[in-house]
Amino acid sequence: MSVTHCTITEQYFSRTAKSAELARAARGIFPNGVTHDARNFEPHGIYVTRAVGSRKWDIDGNEYVDYGGGHGSLLLGHNRPEIVAAVQEQLTKGTHFGSNHELEVRWGQLVQEMIPSAERVRFTSSGTEATLLGMRLVRAFTGKPKILRFTGHFHGWHDHAAFGVGSHFDGSPSPGVLPGIAENIVFAPPWDIDQTRRVLEEHDDIASVFIEPTGSSWGQVPVMPEFLSALREITAERGVLLVFDEVITGFRVSPGGAQAEFGVTPDLTTLAKIIAGGFNGGALVGRKDVLDWIDLEASAEAGNEKIAHHGTYNANPISAVAGITMLEIVRDTDACRQANDYAQRLRDAMNSVLADEDVNWSVYGTFSGFHIFTNPEDRDITPEGIAEGKFDYHTLKVPPQPGLIAKLRMGMMIHGADPFVWPGGVTSTAHTDEDLNITAEAFRGALKLLKEEGEL
Ligand SMILES: Cc1ncc(COP(=O)(O)O)c(C=O)c1O
Repeated sequence: MSVTHCTITEQYFSRTAKSAELARAARGIFPNGVTHDARNFEPHGIYVTRAVGSRKWDIDGNEYVDYGGGHGSLLLGHNRPEIVAAVQEQLTKGTHFGSNHELEVRWGQLVQEMIPSAERVRFTSSGTEATLLGMRLVRAFTGKPKILRFTGHFHGWHDHAAFGVGSHFDGSPSPGVLPGIAENIVFAPPWDIDQTRRVLEEHDDIASVFIEPTGSSWGQVPVMPEFLSALREITAERGVLLVFDEVITGFRVSPGGAQAEFGVTPDLTTLAKIIAGGFNGGALVGRKDVLDWIDLEASAEAGNEKIAHHGTYNANPISAVAGITMLEIVRDTDACRQANDYAQRLRDAMNSVLADEDVNWSVYGTFSGFHIFTNPEDRDITPEGIAEGKFDYHTLKVPPQPGLIAKLRMGMMIHGADPFVWPGGVTSTAHTDEDLNITAEAFRGALKLLKEEGEL
């Protein structure tokens, strides 16, 4: 049997035998055999041994154009030489001082300089920690218990953010989350400002609104910039704190994040990923009077009980030096624009492939991202229509075709490009014209295979 007559899954298996073997071993160690829910993949994920620039190689020797980008943290691609050199030098000087150090000051100053809302900065070890700290602070500051979240928006995996993202859209707690926590989270649809205003009016005990400013999961369910300005107005009117979760968008949409790009300054901002140059790290930044609740003297002066905040790896020197190097490049070059331009050209090229192949899907997105919409109801669509909110989170975020999407991803991987799970991806300054051609042709190859299998 020639390779072209094998099914997508058979071809994938034959190319990834060593990954399949490791996946079998991993299933005896890790739940589902994986170490992050986004890495769940049937029949098995690839095991990567090396990555440089825009490419990565798996243990079977296959090469891929990568669109996972270290979960979005690698705006400059894998192993950017300046970051590697800075980290290598720091490794010889010490990896963890367990005390203050000059790098954290320089890192914090850069964040303050680049992010408009950052009057004060507190480093954390991850985005989840940043949003968790943010939720505690807004409650302490306002003396109110509730948080308004937008349905489908992701703020990490802690208890206050664990439901209403890919399931439990009714706001009920997912297993393990205390009902008392869920009762204090209220939801609004992320495109309806009137409904959002009504929710704020109905609950006078809302401390804060959290939002992913370009829409949930990196704009998979888009939010319009006008929505952000309106949200700023209605929260300011009511004394409700506005928090932008810029864990992905920070330093990616623009050097100053979505807030600089759209000219809307929130009260607080959560950051992670790019901030630490591809290493672990995050930050809660924002108004001084709010972050003063972590400040010993300011709390004492105001008669407040200081909020405790620890974290063994907060501002560790490796993340700090990688973060400084990354942020200086983002600040001093057109890195964001390069990644954005590539993504726009990629979306266009993939939509041309869809037109050539007469497939009624759409590739949409903004800035340095793309999302592949498989249009399960075969509706009349354009990327612009999706951006204007014609589809809600049920359709866009939890596409009812997991089997098809897995085959699409495998089909693209067989042809040398690896989109991220949802399916879509992030682009970087390292992506080239050659990568673009490989990816467009991988998309075409995957569509042809799906047609051969009767999926299209
Ligand atoms: C918008 C947003 N907030 C929070 C998080 C959680 O960040 P972390 O994975 O660093 O805990 C993520 C992670 O992807 C995210 O995209």
